[in-house]
Amino acid sequence: AIGPVTDLRIVNANISPDGFSRPAVLAGGTFPGPVITGRKGDNFQINVINQLTDHEMWKSTTIHWHGFFQKGTNWADGADFVTQCPITTGDSFLYNFNVPDQAGTYWYHSHLSTQYCDGLRGAFIVYDPNEPQRNLYDVDDESTVITLADWYHTLAKHTPAPAVPQSTLINGKGRYAGQTTPSELAAVSVQRGKRYRMRLVSISCDPNYKFSIDRHDLTVIEADGENVQSRTVDSITIFAGQRYSFIASRFLNANQPEGNYWIRAKPNIGNSSFAGGLNSAILRYVGAPVAEPTTPPTPDNTALREVDLRPLVRPGVPGRPFVGGADVNVNLLFTFAGGKFRLNGTSYVNPQLPTLLQIMSGAQTAQDLLPAGQYIPLPANSVVEMSIPGGVVGGGHPVHLHGHTFHVIRSAGSTQYNYNDPVLRDVVNIGTTGDNVTIRFVTDNPGPWFLHCHIDWHFDTGFAVVMAEDVPGSAVANPVPDAWNQLCPKYFDLPEED
Ligand code: C2O
Repeated sequence: AIGPVTDLRIVNANISPDGFSRPAVLAGGTFPGPVITGRKGDNFQINVINQLTDHEMWKSTTIHWHGFFQKGTNWADGADFVTQCPITTGDSFLYNFNVPDQAGTYWYHSHLSTQYCDGLRGAFIVYDPNEPQRNLYDVDDESTVITLADWYHTLAKHTPAPAVPQSTLINGKGRYAGQTTPSELAAVSVQRGKRYRMRLVSISCDPNYKFSIDRHDLTVIEADGENVQSRTVDSITIFAGQRYSFIASRFLNANQPEGNYWIRAKPNIGNSSFAGGLNSAILRYVGAPVAEPTTPPTPDNTALREVDLRPLVRPGVPGRPFVGGADVNVNLLFTFAGGKFRLNGTSYVNPQLPTLLQIMSGAQTAQDLLPAGQYIPLPANSVVEMSIPGGVVGGGHPVHLHGHTFHVIRSAGSTQYNYNDPVLRDVVNIGTTGDNVTIRFVTDNPGPWFLHCHIDWHFDTGFAVVMAEDVPGSAVANPVPDAWNQLCPKYFDLPEED
């Protein structure tokens, strides 16, 4: 793990996390990238140094710190061509932001096209010195991180969607079907009698995973950086970009022999079998032999349902308690045709100049921003309700909003609206036909913020829109560092890939 003040080198290297060697784009030279850690209240200064040399793959980069509000630092959000020009090869850029009021499980990833599918992704944990969950659940150790990733044997840039992953990597290790020599799997070490808070992070580009650990209950206590009332389940379905913390709650009962147990992550696309250790890792108790588990899958009697999650501290829902009871009510109708996703007829493409730069250069209203049709103007200090019907091709789209967490008033698979105590999160599955997932949030964070599908191939084919929150308004007043002003001039000196 690396701390809040750090260099992060972006490099090319050949890696074989599932036994198949391929070139990759890596943060800090590893997959996943190093876990970035800090404490609530910290100032993060992450100096991203672009040392990419394989320009057949990618030249430039940006990094998004997924889940952080970036209040007053919209420029540090890392959203390619929304909040910055990319960092060119040989250059570096300091992301400098505060995390005053958030703690929990986050992650970081490239926000340039489909670059993170080629490797640039990792976990980001913020510890709370006064964590209520630690005492509430008698946690001995909260440092265990489990990342789930899809892995491809072809380069993302040259892979037409829909891409089918060759393997699932758990903590950067996995196997693919038909492999001659099975490669090493990740082992998560635990000690009998100790209580662990484990952090499950989907750094997926596409699949969702049904996650479980043989013969262990999972007591969920956090979703997307928001503490929730505990809920004990057998499995957690986690979508691209989402995070959960859970306690593997039978540890304390000491009724588990010191053995090896399969950790399973079943993807919804690609090969979903567990044969030969596919889609698997190992939970290994101290004292157990270094061997692969032989445990059969535990029956899945209780799957986690988002609609059952309740915030630990009930924040209540802003606005009036009925459909359309917000100050601004928006219906986001995404469609798919001709290989492109569209929102109310418009497929998202990068603007010529980053949106934030357009605002700072004097765009007077959100409607002035170019290209037209890609922005949803939102007034300051208002309650916004968004309904996002599912049913778009592919089903189960994880929609992510930057700069906010939102209340999930209506979850996929449910017809109920909860105006009282629904879960808060930053990525929501919008489900399939008939679902009308509805969220609410307050516009307390001026600036342009992306809302997009976190399936990276969908994001890259137009499944995105920018919330122009209080624009131009106080976004213009956010001071940007000098280096930010240099990014676009440097970028446009280079012939670029995209
Ligand atoms: Cu995790 Cu816009 O992304």
